[in-house]
Amino acid sequence: MKNTVLTFRQAKRNKEKLAMLTAYDYSMAKLMDQAGINGILVGDSLGMVMLGYQDTLRVTMQDMIHHSKAASRGVESALLVTDMPFMSYQTSVYDAVVNAGILVREGRAHAVKLEGGEEVAPQIRAIVQASIPVMGHIGLTPQSVNAFGGYKVQGRDEEAARKLLHAAKAVEEAGAFAVVLECVPEKLAELITKSLSIPTIGIGAGRECDGQVLVYQDMLALFSGFTPKFVKRYADAGGMMREAFAAYKDEVGRGIFPGPEHAFTMDDGVIEKLY
Ligand code: KIV
Repeated sequence: MKNTVLTFRQAKRNKEKLAMLTAYDYSMAKLMDQAGINGILVGDSLGMVMLGYQDTLRVTMQDMIHHSKAASRGVESALLVTDMPFMSYQTSVYDAVVNAGILVREGRAHAVKLEGGEEVAPQIRAIVQASIPVMGHIGLTPQSVNAFGGYKVQGRDEEAARKLLHAAKAVEEAGAFAVVLECVPEKLAELITKSLSIPTIGIGAGRECDGQVLVYQDMLALFSGFTPKFVKRYADAGGMMREAFAAYKDEVGRGIFPGPEHAFTMDDGVIEKLY
């Protein structure tokens, strides 16, 4: 069944949990799509896990278009959501609509995601009015890492918690079809989830969200940088790949690979004429 924004809304009504993962290319998106993942997020986390940057701030529209296009070719049934990169929507409502349109037209996204609460509500409203579904993102919003002074759990004290609840409602009222809650205490995520009619998608926000999202390199142990507390390792694909690379190097070095079964044949008569 094809996942759309309607599927996401229905899932909340029916209390069915939504599973999302990030993907940045064709093959990975295809595997996730085949596994029945509801939503594939072409996150600007690609700056860190694909491009090796220290944060997401250097990611450009061109980067997002390139990876979104590639992932879209692997998607048949998942909803493809593409992140709006830093400074592609904060600058003005006009920039936000134009750039969201480019991510749909060129990046083949079904929806876009942007970070922030009330301060980006005008952008969300305008993009939605242009018939582009928007996923919000509040809590730890990595594009604000310098303003936060680091990657920290958000909403722990009363004032911060009230602000997040307010941000969630602002995002919903502006017309977002879902909202990501990143690094928020479980009890606050539960309250936000109960207060909204749109699904909450948690990452480091505990068990009560309407859905979950993970960066696939984290859940497969493919990213050797810092692993946050909220990540569960579903496979040590990184370890398996390292072992496979080392075995390949060893076999090439010892002349074991390629074997006769990997080589192409030709008529002996032909080759003899060349000697
Ligand atoms: O960029 C990203 O991958 C994200 C997820 C962490 C939600 O925004």
